[in-house]
Amino acid sequence: MRKGPVLSHPVTMELHGDIAVIQVSNPPVNALSQAVRAGLSDTVTQAAEMAEVKAILICCAGRTFVAGADIREFGKPLMEPSLPDVIDQIEASTKPVVIALHGTALGGGLELALGGHYRIALASARFGLPEVMLGLLPGAGGTQRLPRLVPMSNAINMITSGGQIGAQDALEFGLIDQIASGDDIRNASLGYAKTLIETGAAPRPTSRLVCNPPEPGAMDAARAKLAKSARGQIAPQKALDALRGAIDLSFAEGLAQERALFKELMASDQRGAMIHAFFAERQVGKLDEIKGVAPRDVQTLGVVGGGTMGAGIATNALLAGLKVTLVERDSEATDRAYATVSGLLEGAMQRGKLGEAQYGEIMSDCFKTTTDYQEFAQSDIVIEAVFESIDVKKEVFEKLDAVCKPGAILASNTSYLDVDAIAAMTARPEDVIGLHFFSPAHVMKLLEIVVADRTAPEVTATGFALAKTLGKVAVRAGVCDGFIGNRILSHYRKALDGAVIAGASPFDVDRALVEFGLAMGPYAVSDLAGLDIGWATRKRLAPRRDPREAYAEFADRLCEMGRFGRKTGRGYYLYGEGRPAPDPEVDGIIAEERSAKGVIARALSDQEIVDRYMAAMVNEAARVVEEGIAQRPLDVDVTLLNGYGFPRWRGGPMYYADTVGPDKILRDITTFAAEDDFLWQPAPLLQRLVAEGKTFASLNT
Ligand code: CAA
Ligand code: NAI
Repeated sequence: MRKGPVLSHPVTMELHGDIAVIQVSNPPVNALSQAVRAGLSDTVTQAAEMAEVKAILICCAGRTFVAGADIREFGKPLMEPSLPDVIDQIEASTKPVVIALHGTALGGGLELALGGHYRIALASARFGLPEVMLGLLPGAGGTQRLPRLVPMSNAINMITSGGQIGAQDALEFGLIDQIASGDDIRNASLGYAKTLIETGAAPRPTSRLVCNPPEPGAMDAARAKLAKSARGQIAPQKALDALRGAIDLSFAEGLAQERALFKELMASDQRGAMIHAFFAERQVGKLDEIKGVAPRDVQTLGVVGGGTMGAGIATNALLAGLKVTLVERDSEATDRAYATVSGLLEGAMQRGKLGEAQYGEIMSDCFKTTTDYQEFAQSDIVIEAVFESIDVKKEVFEKLDAVCKPGAILASNTSYLDVDAIAAMTARPEDVIGLHFFSPAHVMKLLEIVVADRTAPEVTATGFALAKTLGKVAVRAGVCDGFIGNRILSHYRKALDGAVIAGASPFDVDRALVEFGLAMGPYAVSDLAGLDIGWATRKRLAPRRDPREAYAEFADRLCEMGRFGRKTGRGYYLYGEGRPAPDPEVDGIIAEERSAKGVIARALSDQEIVDRYMAAMVNEAARVVEEGIAQRPLDVDVTLLNGYGFPRWRGGPMYYADTVGPDKILRDITTFAAEDDFLWQPAPLLQRLVAEGKTFASLNT
């Protein structure tokens, strides 16, 4: 017998023989909104009451199983029924509950699956508890049920990293019972439910299982590891506390403790910051200028220059399935580029990101290096990554303009140069755009899409589509020296150099900012990138430098001594065996500059260093927003989070400014202006927001 739908959207139930099929349909990702929770609860109640129902099947319509709680409801009063209650109700069913999994079962979605009695998944399905990435922990029984099904070490990994696993691992670990053959999850799960009924399979509540014990010392080891890998973050440590409860407490007590910890995190600033980051990253590509604009098709990509960036960009594109042709100056350089790219791909293979067969296929069919620009004739897009010199760029763009097919996009990876000027070197400025990758290009998430005056919307749309193919977070930037990120970086670097002249050492600055949450201190980062890069830029900009600028010279002094950072064994730090060491010689160079300038060094607290760093960053970012270089404050946040190591749990500089208050930032700027009133000129936008009592967030909509 087959009955029609009992409940309507977003949760429906229909009978297939003696199986009640409950389907969630809440596009786009079947998030567990109040309506879904209520629908699940109602349908499970109904199925329990229907005598003819022998088993319940929970599945989802659309592209994925439930991808989690509805994040939009966070921070608002809870609307009943709560997810933990719904899951408890499902688990308590006296009829076996089968969960049919496809797409991504994430967060509350996976917790829902853990509350079922049997789990079947498509081979392509993925599973994860990403709550820590939102500053939370699984709050609907995940920390209690998962380690009852899978070994504790896997539960610790999944819960504290937020990472995903595939169906094969899920089967091996005991998270699912079966991988469906084929790609029709509904049919496969109906077959599975039927077999369970036929074999008299009973409900199998996960909560009744005994928690898998950790290896001796595993919990302490995980805690110590997280103290480093998730430095500054509260959620992963609290998640471990909750997991500890699964070992030490009864299920009910463990669940209550998990709930209490979840509520604590829900009220934390870190949760607010990380959810801001989540939505900002999805908002950033929503731009009026490309709304409804179809991108051009990109299958083949050209790269000019196979140095640091060109090789990384080529690797990124190859890993994303594109065909790549790379042009270098001579055969020695093409050989070098070929070796670099194959080395990077081998690295990807070692990390399990690329199979051996795929590697072979890429190297034989998809990647070519040459010195002949004619090879770009059929490329859909060519990205230039040659030396940062306007003359070299001119030579390259004129050649590209001559050989590339009509409609091909010509992109520059320049860090600072004028993309309008580059576009004007060609007869097709509407096809020219800046695509600013970050080093290492195959790893870093950020791509600044620099839209020049005459760039066609279709070309901008293609930039965003390409970013998605490449797995990047793309931010639209306008043309100026350094676009969004490097322009802000240049400004806060001046403020930090000012702190050094005032009395801090570069090592004090790095320590204070690492403590604040940065992955690496700015001076250590300079050493890594090579101090000569910044030196070249400063020399280029010297003729335009305002005489009122309090120019700190110590960076130039280091370069004049051949101290270019890591690659020369010394920069700000000394590089030998072991950890980079602060170098007294650097202190000496700085002390000389102070005395030449008549500055008497004073001690700066870590807080003052952080305040200077943040005030300079926010002030320049406000100008960047006001000038339209960044569209909204959230674009700045996404840029700094994904390209500059700004701690995600602080949400980005503009979000941070709102948490401390724009007025506090303005007060700091006024204070620091007593020392250098040229650098510390308040941005008009910041002044206006403070005068009107508004936040940066008010400009995001
Ligand atoms: N709640 C509300 N909206 C969500 C959402 C969620 N959990 N997950 C995704 N969305 C929205 C996105 O904001 C986006 O909306 P717009 O189109 O309006 O921008 C839309 O769904 C599509 O999302 P993506 O662009 O990210 O699509 P994708 O295909 O690239 O990725 C995904 C899909 C893998 C599910 C990804 O969206 C994702 O990772 N979502 C978050 C999953 C998550 O963190 N779940 C845990 C939630 S916390 C929780 O569950 C707590 C608990 O224990 C109770
Ligand atoms: P690089 O010096 O490592 O590589 C440049 C390569 O271009 C060299 O291999 C050189 O042989 C090649 N080249 C020069 N002229 C050429 C020509 N006419 N035809 C073909 N190849 C030519 O430089 P890097 O660091 O890769 O930088 C390249 C560009 O990327 C620059 O514009 C730089 O500003 C930008 N960039 C650099 C970043 C970094 O961290 N290194 C980050 C983001 C952008």
